[in-house]
Amino acid sequence: MKVVFSIGGSILAPEGVDQEYVAKLSKLLRSLSKKHGIAVVVGGGRPARKNIEKARNEGKTMAYCDYVGILATRENAKALISALGGGSNDIVPESIHDAANLFGEKILVMGGTEPGHSTDAVAAVLSDWVGADVFVNASNVDAVYDKNPKKFSDAKPIGKININDLFTILKDEGVCAGEYPLLDHVALSIIRRSKIKTLFVDGRDIKNMADAVEGRRFKGTTVVY
Ligand code: UTP
Repeated sequence: MKVVFSIGGSILAPEGVDQEYVAKLSKLLRSLSKKHGIAVVVGGGRPARKNIEKARNEGKTMAYCDYVGILATRENAKALISALGGGSNDIVPESIHDAANLFGEKILVMGGTEPGHSTDAVAAVLSDWVGADVFVNASNVDAVYDKNPKKFSDAKPIGKININDLFTILKDEGVCAGEYPLLDHVALSIIRRSKIKTLFVDGRDIKNMADAVEGRRFKGTTVVY
């Protein structure tokens, strides 16, 4: 199988890079890569948000702020590559076509590409390009909820969600640098047009992620078309 992960910066770099988490994630990725082609797109987390805020305070443009975020995601990618030892490509591709060319035997790790979207969008386009069998969106939320669980205490998790309902739930979320929602509009549009099998899981639960990839019962949300 071809598997593309989007690993939220909130779990990989909640402050700086969480080396303990990176070590656990690397173990899972190395084991999966024995059977599957694996790509991992990592988010920016706190370092990205801090640098974006600084750039914003200096009056930089939104696209420049996005660019600052992108640089932080690539630093996180390098940290994961280093933990993977020889298991991954050494290069952090900076475009989708370079990434698609590199996708293969070794684990591919990358961060952002261009301003205007999140790393989830990068992972969605890469999933589309390489014909991924599954796109795993791993964040610090354990499922898609009927409303934002960080804002509403009565929000309910949804096991299977229709793509159009997902658009509706996420439509009012942010579009600014450092503030993209659970899945941004670019990512949503890509998975909808190409009907990419997409799963939402809590990336901190490594065993649950393995279950999701291998088609076992898992806790999270499956997008249906
Ligand atoms: P993300 O928003 O994808 O990282 O990238 P994150 O911190 O992991 O987000 P969560 O934790 O999953 O919510 C950080 C920032 O980098 C810019 C955006 O400003 C984004 O908010 N970025 C990233 C881009 O402009 N283009 C990219 O391709 C990727």
